[in-house]
Amino acid sequence: MDLFEYQARDVFEKHGVPVLAGAIATTPEQARAAAEEIGAQSGGVTVVKAQVKTGGRGKAGGVKVAKSPQEAQEYAAAILGMDIKGHTVKTVMIAQGARIAEEYYFSILLDRANRRYLAMCSKEGGMDIETLAVEQPDKLAMIAVDPNVGIDDAKAQEIVEQAGFPAEDHAALKNVISRLWEVYRDEDATLVEVNPLVKTEDGTILALDGKVSIDGNSEFRHPEHEAFVDHSKTDPLEILAIERGLNYVKLDGDVGIIGNGAGLVMSTLDVVAYAGQEFPRADGTHPAPANFLDIGGGANAEVMANGLDVIFEDGQVKAVFVNVFGGITACDAVADGIVQAYGILQGHGKTPKPLVVRLDGNNAEEGRAILDQAQLPLLERVDTMDGAARRVAELAAGVN
Ligand SMILES: Nc1ncnc2c1ncn2[C@@H]1O[C@H](COP(=O)(O)OP(=O)(O)OP(=O)(O)O)[C@@H](O)[C@H]1O
Ligand SMILES: [Mg+2]
Repeated sequence: MDLFEYQARDVFEKHGVPVLAGAIATTPEQARAAAEEIGAQSGGVTVVKAQVKTGGRGKAGGVKVAKSPQEAQEYAAAILGMDIKGHTVKTVMIAQGARIAEEYYFSILLDRANRRYLAMCSKEGGMDIETLAVEQPDKLAMIAVDPNVGIDDAKAQEIVEQAGFPAEDHAALKNVISRLWEVYRDEDATLVEVNPLVKTEDGTILALDGKVSIDGNSEFRHPEHEAFVDHSKTDPLEILAIERGLNYVKLDGDVGIIGNGAGLVMSTLDVVAYAGQEFPRADGTHPAPANFLDIGGGANAEVMANGLDVIFEDGQVKAVFVNVFGGITACDAVADGIVQAYGILQGHGKTPKPLVVRLDGNNAEEGRAILDQAQLPLLERVDTMDGAARRVAELAAGVN
């Protein structure tokens, strides 16, 4: 889960990372009131910042320095409702204005490939870090962090030295880096990024912009993170799927996908996207996956019915691919599940959509026989993954 900047600011504050005062507003009037209060400590100057979960807000016109509460109100009026890379701005943060002397960059992230964390630090902050990494890689210090040790004093020292900071700034920077490490560790984050980390004219180090991503798997030990969930953003089908306990992610295409096991579902998305290329439509689109849905190992009838139900509810779906590799739950049990799922859905007055089923693995023959016998409407059996992907793409393209 990605946090909004204002939520990251609050988390930073909780862990002692130096930040400036900030308050959120959803109307220009609220923005004015917030600027009156917050600007009082900074000569009336505040910064109005779009709260969207995407980068490049400044470039898009979503970050503006306001010299008075009146100006803050005007900027808020312009920024609220703005579209930034497909995200509509519903909230702005009014932040206290800082007198910036220098802008730096700092982040900690999960380095999955090397099974450790990675700290990145640069004296060249503010600018797009991806560009810096490509154009001036020597200006970006990248330091491996052992998860069993974390960022201790020695590691913090290594970071500030490699980034090339002068000795007189080391102590203050190391303090901020240690606090940011605490955020990363204690909040179970997968990313903590500060861009820019600034030195103000009076020499104070401040985190002016924060991006924090929290590992969803740590939900069980962070009931307080529930407050960060942006319910307005969740897709209605995803809500339905969550209520049913399904592992579902909505995508843009028109081929519904169900599989058992996340790895199998991921590769099913790939083969369907690939097969879809063979069937271009007149409008230039191709059949493509409409969702990710992993029904897990114990694919019983109810789980299958719930899965099919959510997918049939998706108005964009033209055809569905059920791709199951029988393991502990054998294919005959899955086939029984599909047959019963049809019964359950028909009982609820739902009409099925064209369905291509591929069963392989444990008891595949028995499973296929069950499907053949049941003669379910619109259901076709294809026994290879590529063949089934091709057939479902064909159905979704409208080629019969
Ligand atoms: N509180 C502040 N006071 C003064 N200047 C600020 C403040 N917040 C941001 N700025 C200036 O605006 C620039 C952009 O702000 P910020 O980093 O928050 O947004 P962004 O980088 O454009 O957005 P994103 O990080 O989403 O790409 C900063 O580099 C800094 O120069
Ligand atoms: Mg930024």
